[in-house]
Amino acid sequence: MSLRELLKDKLSEEEIKLVRRSFEIIGDVVVIEIPDEIMHRKDDIIAAILKRHKHVKTVLRKVGEVNGVYRIARYELVYGEKTETIVKEHGCRFVVDPTKAYYSVKLSGERERIAKLVREGEKVLVMFAGVGPYPIVIARLAKPREVIGVELNPIAVKYFRQNVKLNKVQNVVKVLEGDVNEIVPKLSGKFDRVLMPAPYSAEKFIPLLKDKVEKGSFIHYYSFESENEEERLPDKISDKFAEHGIKVEVLKLKKCGNFAPYVSRYVADIEVVG
Ligand SMILES: C[S@@+](CC[C@H](N)C(=O)[O-])C[C@H]1O[C@@H](n2cnc3c(N)ncnc32)[C@H](O)[C@@H]1O
Repeated sequence: MSLRELLKDKLSEEEIKLVRRSFEIIGDVVVIEIPDEIMHRKDDIIAAILKRHKHVKTVLRKVGEVNGVYRIARYELVYGEKTETIVKEHGCRFVVDPTKAYYSVKLSGERERIAKLVREGEKVLVMFAGVGPYPIVIARLAKPREVIGVELNPIAVKYFRQNVKLNKVQNVVKVLEGDVNEIVPKLSGKFDRVLMPAPYSAEKFIPLLKDKVEKGSFIHYYSFESENEEERLPDKISDKFAEHGIKVEVLKLKKCGNFAPYVSRYVADIEVVG
């Protein structure tokens, strides 16, 4: 039964219309938007969530969109105490706290997709690694030689290190704390695959890849783009890489999430061709 159906005897028809159809469940934490107009009904809304999802211990009201360098939304705690929780994903477990470090359940399918592309023995670089879901899912589902994850937010790094141990991938995943602008230039050798999951500002990090990839390397480039641009996007992306001396071919372009009306998150699977 939907949240709206559960609330139909408690709230007026007008109030029901303001209840969001969807909310995110992160472990035992629920993230939901509750408009100001129905905040006086929050106890009924929370009761309905708890009735439907008995394991939930905390409810966070999202009061501001994902923002800032660390890409964290603003939340108000409306039920429970703890905001740290454990999420299960593809046989992995992640300790996360959405109020302190970015983590999105919605990208779990994308992480599995990428992991399935990784071939045995690859050396992989995950820029903007967050609490480590991409590096860890890749290490667990594929057989890479090494996965290096770079992350700036110290709290995300703390969880990333904890998650590496929790999933017993210390032999494969290396956690590096700091700014990719400083760390990536110091990394030695070339990478078989580079992930750039910073869709908000991916473009400005392209120059970092110049001597980190070679012919035959793959890049997964995430960006927020207008849906009207979709057809032109592969050429636009190839041109951006070419400007920095990296000759690429976009093998596949895929929408992987909404951002705003008519603006979506896209991922381009790219092969370096020269
Ligand atoms: C959209 S989140 C993606 C996190 C993770 N890959 C995931 O999917 O859950 C982007 C991450 O990049 C980090 N970040 C932003 N600027 C950075 C930089 N210059 N160097 C390293 N990490 C950075 C943020 O702190 C944030 O955790």
